[in-house]
Amino acid sequence: MPNYVDEMTERMLADAGIGPGMRVLDIGCGPGWVALMLARRVGDQGQVFAVDQNPKMLELTRENAKKAGVSNITFIEGGFDVAFPERGTLDAVVGRRVLMYQSDATRAVAQLSDAVRRGGVIAFHEHDMVEISDGQTSLPLHDRVRSWLREMLRLEGANLRMGFDLYSALTSAGLAVERVRAEANVLTPTADYPIGWIIRAVLPRLLHLGIVTEAEVDVETLDDRLTAERKAANATCLWEMVFCAWARKT
Ligand SMILES: C[S@@+](CC[C@H](N)C(=O)[O-])C[C@H]1O[C@@H](n2cnc3c(N)ncnc32)[C@H](O)[C@@H]1O
Repeated sequence: MPNYVDEMTERMLADAGIGPGMRVLDIGCGPGWVALMLARRVGDQGQVFAVDQNPKMLELTRENAKKAGVSNITFIEGGFDVAFPERGTLDAVVGRRVLMYQSDATRAVAQLSDAVRRGGVIAFHEHDMVEISDGQTSLPLHDRVRSWLREMLRLEGANLRMGFDLYSALTSAGLAVERVRAEANVLTPTADYPIGWIIRAVLPRLLHLGIVTEAEVDVETLDDRLTAERKAANATCLWEMVFCAWARKT
């Protein structure tokens, strides 16, 4: 599922110097999109360790890797302190949209930095839906969908401002920050960003928390209605800010 956010992740991986032959851990791999990017990037001589605390997510990564014909990923159930033989010797650790769920991000980063060799890289991609102005044109459906996601994350105790906290988490964990970058995920009338896919994936959580009803979401038609709303207003809107930061273990 290549999209604008994946492009930003790829740019972060390239600029952080992650390349052929490296051994890299993907923490909180979820369905494995970042692990797959890493697997292609490090190539046959490299190795990816895809780690998630949720075995169902790991299973999805395994399926997606199989579909993609990728064989250089090792799947490991665990958290930031996951133990495996290569721990301590890795060239890099990467995480996307995972620090925001940790109650103590500095502690989580410090735990992970143990997994990396001296001189290795630690890179995180986190997003921020709070600081977005909703644009010049009124897009009520977009505002409503964004408010569902914000409310879900807030009720789950996630840090909606993690992007702004990346520098302090990395430096407090004793790492030397090389760059913090923020970009906007911009939706134009013709943009092809899978909001419907994202809402479908989190629908059980939205329903469980009582934020939406299935009828209100109408997930089958959601992407079409969002696109129609942007097209009718010929509107461009900022969907979310995306923060990327990388640091080195000195
Ligand atoms: C929003 S998903 C992001 C998935 C993936 N990184 C991506 O960007 O496509 C967050 C993932 O982090 C995992 N996760 C959250 N906290 C974790 C922890 N402490 N240790 C391991 N995995 C964790 C969740 O199980 C979930 O799969």
